Amino acid sequence: MTTKAIVFVEKGKMAIQEVSVPKLRDGYVLVKVNAVGVNPTDWKHTDNGLTDPGSRVGCDYAGVVEAVGSKVTKPFKKGDRISGVVHGSDRTQLENGAFANYIVAKADVQIKTPDNISDEEAATLGISIATVGQGLYRTLGLPIPTESTKDSEYILIYGGSTATGIFGIQFAKLSGLKVIATASPHNFDYLKSLGAEAVFDYKSPTAAEDIRKYTGNSLKLAWDCTGFGGPLVAGALSSEGGKYASIMPVNKEQVAAINPKVDGPHVTLMYSIFGERFVKASETPAKPEELEFAKKFWEVARQLLEEGKLKVPRTIVNRGGNGFEGILKGLDELRANKVSGGKLVYTL
Ligand SMILES: NC(=O)c1ccc[n+]([C@@H]2O[C@H](COP(=O)([O-])OP(=O)(O)OC[C@H]3O[C@@H](n4cnc5c(N)ncnc54)[C@H](OP(=O)(O)O)[C@@H]3O)[C@@H](O)[C@H]2O)c1
Repeated sequence: MTTKAIVFVEKGKMAIQEVSVPKLRDGYVLVKVNAVGVNPTDWKHTDNGLTDPGSRVGCDYAGVVEAVGSKVTKPFKKGDRISGVVHGSDRTQLENGAFANYIVAKADVQIKTPDNISDEEAATLGISIATVGQGLYRTLGLPIPTESTKDSEYILIYGGSTATGIFGIQFAKLSGLKVIATASPHNFDYLKSLGAEAVFDYKSPTAAEDIRKYTGNSLKLAWDCTGFGGPLVAGALSSEGGKYASIMPVNKEQVAAINPKVDGPHVTLMYSIFGERFVKASETPAKPEELEFAKKFWEVARQLLEEGKLKVPRTIVNRGGNGFEGILKGLDELRANKVSGGKLVYTL
């Protein structure tokens, strides 16, 4: 049996191909995909040659369970709606990848799609939910929203209008923190509607100083959803120090030169959540503790979505076309930095 998929061909080139349906491995489910979300990492793997020919591209999806592999412990059955994240452009397992009609997904880090969320909306969740878990909870140590919170302190979400930041703002607020964000002014009202109490323009030369003044030099936590935040974050965190997590590499020396008391940047990478070894520019060993955490965190997110406490980002469906051709257009939009304060999703 075959499936259409977007496949890495060579550095700078991916193509729509007819390939075999992936083999159902232990701990995995086979899924018929209805919608996918596109992410910067999808085009970056191709353009930077971070994978091998034949690997399938794409991470975020929503669909329906077709078959359940042995050793799956979550209660998935054929016909269930399902969404989550897979390891796209994976050179250690070429058949992984979400941009296909049929895919395999590691069951532990998928959820049954809540009834109040459409497949198009559920396709926005994958990488972002996993990354929030790693950054805000495992790295910065926020209390998970189901636990009671004691003191309300500030957190800065740099890149608040990224797909990741949109979830980050909501989670931080649900964890009881006072959320400050940065974004372009046209996104201020949207980020406030998600729970940010103040939003600052990262292009303003006084933004760091303005945030330090706003927080009375008490900001101790910052999460950077772009990797561009180094100087601003360093200047905004308290002069007495604070913890800085990022999802992209940041120049540590530049941060230390501005604020020597900063703890970080601590950089996370989503691909660790599968608890399997992987290879990008270098090799990362399997981290079973990441999988354990992610498994629990996905269920926290599911409950918050079901209760309507967590909203999906503004979902932009089929911009440039639908299906696999649409996905390629969407990746071009991301490459050209044309997505702001929302998530591109494509139906298959
Ligand atoms: N480590 C990981 O595991 C991981 C996980 C997810 C994403 N990432 C990476 O994190 C980044 C964000 O991904 P995403 O999908 O969340 O983003 P996205 O939704 O594609 O980001 C779009 C947003 O980026 C903002 N932006 C663009 N240039 C900026 C700059 N110089 N400074 C501050 N903000 C800027 C824009 O804000 P305005 O329009 O408001 O100006 C826009 O809203 C990407 O580089 C991605 O590869 C890493």
